[in-house]
Amino acid sequence: MKTVTLSTLQAYKRAGETFSCLTAYDASFARTAADAGIEVLLVGDSLGMVLQGHDSTLPVTLEDICYHTRCVARAKGRSLLMVDLPFMSNATTERMLDDAAELMRAGAELVKVEGEAWMADGIRELTRRGVPVCAHLGLTPQTVYQLGGYKVQGRDAERAAQILEDARTLVEAGASVILLECVPASLGRAITEALDVPVIGIGAGPDTDGQILVMHDVLGVTHGRTPRFVKNYMAEADDIAGAFRRYHEDVKARRFPTEEHSF
Ligand code: KIV
Ligand code: NA
Repeated sequence: MKTVTLSTLQAYKRAGETFSCLTAYDASFARTAADAGIEVLLVGDSLGMVLQGHDSTLPVTLEDICYHTRCVARAKGRSLLMVDLPFMSNATTERMLDDAAELMRAGAELVKVEGEAWMADGIRELTRRGVPVCAHLGLTPQTVYQLGGYKVQGRDAERAAQILEDARTLVEAGASVILLECVPASLGRAITEALDVPVIGIGAGPDTDGQILVMHDVLGVTHGRTPRFVKNYMAEADDIAGAFRRYHEDVKARRFPTEEHSF
């Protein structure tokens, strides 16, 4: 695999080729995922749940994220390293700039932020300063208490249209990538077709440009209710490296996700 950059993802989109993304939180798993061909590694604030045992991502601090980013950055190989801005980093444009700077210093190559069209100014200022941004829309776990739970977003036409409009606004402001979480497959497809930038999906159906999963779910280390959109690749692999490879190959061949993983 050649070194993956933003241009690589854009070229995939133009060519109609998919790409795989996976969360990573430490050096050993990051190296294993990179060696398996995973194109994008995400240091997600899901670490609050899968590593720290919290019920949500809200307690995760900038310091927590920076620590794990430094660990992953040392072993990311040729994969592109995307990193989450934690809860409330989007409070003001100034805070977004300061916090994104810390993530970039820790090794981030693409900064992901949750929110809606109101983030346009922050995203514009980050982009101007050479910080590429992925805008995370749909189910945004940092707003779980307002959403009333981890629920599919955009089932009704009005909310679906709003998510599409927000995505357009944020791309216009400079967002280089859009990530859609838990939206109907039809909306995942519509947004992917409407935008020139790569769209990554999780529970967003088979038609987004890229797919992402939380590493623990790929390895079957899922506690509580298993979400519909995950797949345990350990069930068909001999070891962890094999599970990551199967996931990567399934995404590249558009064998994952299927209808059974979609809304
Ligand atoms: O934190 C995370 O792992 C994420 C992915 C689920 C997209 O944001
Ligand atoms: Na996240």
